[in-house]
Amino acid sequence: MSTADRTVVRGGLVVTAADEMHADVLIEGGRIAALAAHDSDTAAGWTAGTVIDATGKYVIPGGVDGHTHMQMPFGGTTASDTFETGTRAAAWGGTTTVVDFAIQGVGASLRAGLDAWHAKADAQCAIDYGFHMIVADVNDKTLAEMDTLVEEGVTSFKMFMAYPGVFYSDDGQILRAMQRASGNGGLVMMHAENGIAIDVLVQQALAAGKTDPRYHGEVRHALLEAEATHRAVQLARVAGSPLYVVHVSAEQAVAELAAARDLGLPVFGETCPQYLFLSTDNLAEPDFEGAKYVCSTPLRPREHQAALWRGLRTDDLQVVSTDHCPFCFSGQKELGRGDFSKIPNGMPGVEHRMDLLHQAVVDGHITRRRWIDIACAAPARMFGLYPRKGTIAPGADADVVVYDPHAEQTLSASTHHMNVDYSAYEGRRLTGRVETVLSRGVPVIEQQAYVGRAGHGQYTPRGICQYL
Ligand code: URP
Ligand code: ZN
Ligand code: ZN
Repeated sequence: MSTADRTVVRGGLVVTAADEMHADVLIEGGRIAALAAHDSDTAAGWTAGTVIDATGKYVIPGGVDGHTHMQMPFGGTTASDTFETGTRAAAWGGTTTVVDFAIQGVGASLRAGLDAWHAKADAQCAIDYGFHMIVADVNDKTLAEMDTLVEEGVTSFKMFMAYPGVFYSDDGQILRAMQRASGNGGLVMMHAENGIAIDVLVQQALAAGKTDPRYHGEVRHALLEAEATHRAVQLARVAGSPLYVVHVSAEQAVAELAAARDLGLPVFGETCPQYLFLSTDNLAEPDFEGAKYVCSTPLRPREHQAALWRGLRTDDLQVVSTDHCPFCFSGQKELGRGDFSKIPNGMPGVEHRMDLLHQAVVDGHITRRRWIDIACAAPARMFGLYPRKGTIAPGADADVVVYDPHAEQTLSASTHHMNVDYSAYEGRRLTGRVETVLSRGVPVIEQQAYVGRAGHGQYTPRGICQYL
């Protein structure tokens, strides 16, 4: 390896989920080659074509966002970020890997769904990406295909207890898929809301003239999230499979996960920044502005946030993903004017996860190392990408972020890079900002300028969950 092909990141505080160390980082051939103390003879002896000065900054692993929906057809429209725009925005925010959801059409094969998602993402992404598979139609053929997908590196399968008539699976179908996963190493990811009961409440609310966005939060009752979470845990126990519950928002659902984990069950949970930082107050914003915050599970009263932070500290929740699924206010969210049930469900956020969670460090909710754990290392482990992704250690991909912990920024639709016409965090001031991002050693963001390219990002097959 010639000196010109090497990069050294000098002078920063390297923060991983396990350690904090004042170290220089040597990068060769797209991978971390070595770490050495700043003042060591070893580091002094490193010569490199590129030297990045990280003095006074953190040097952290690139974020791993385990839950995104780029250009997803949903709710009568399509999520507004393409793989190109969405992964570029992710990079701006210090995320260097996303795991997106390929979708099985009802009556179609898993393979057809996966092929379609490969076609959308191929040669478009600024950063590396993998796929989960949404299983919408459980049958003998689908179950057999799950085995093949696990072998190919699509090792997790999302199922829905919500959205009857769209992605919904009944308990028998879920049990069958879980049984299959228990045999093939797959991880079932559950959207845990009782969709049958919710649809009754939706019809009752609309019949009573309750059409505003805030009723989205009321009908998707916290107890119906907790009930579905409990049911999913019991089904997984019967099947002998692990379970990962996505986008947990209700305190009562966290309690179900904590109880399962106290029994030693392989049950895991994810929450998202919107549940940690936003609330039903946002859903109640006037003039239909609340539609910007319609997602499922829904935002909860702010009292739920303490339980989510506690769950992240106690490891009853392991991962923070974004569930990035943006729809523009104009023309997309507006589909639900006069009927909240027609507002496309989903919120933008892929760009802001690392920064919002750093703010949580500043605010004292979590430690610096826990920040890196829940945003980088744990999702990498959960989805079979560790230690290639999610850490800074010899042999890992050189997905490295230089992070300025003192920079101030204000989030706004006028400055963000996601392809969506509003910010869910408009005007929010944050301390901390991404300065430089490397993906496999290649600069994507340099001193707050985008220098990446569509097609740099590679499809990344995954191993099985590394917590089992
Ligand atoms: O509202 C949401 N979460 N939209 C994306 C689809 C899903 O359920 O994750
Ligand atoms: Zn979901
Ligand atoms: Zn989602």
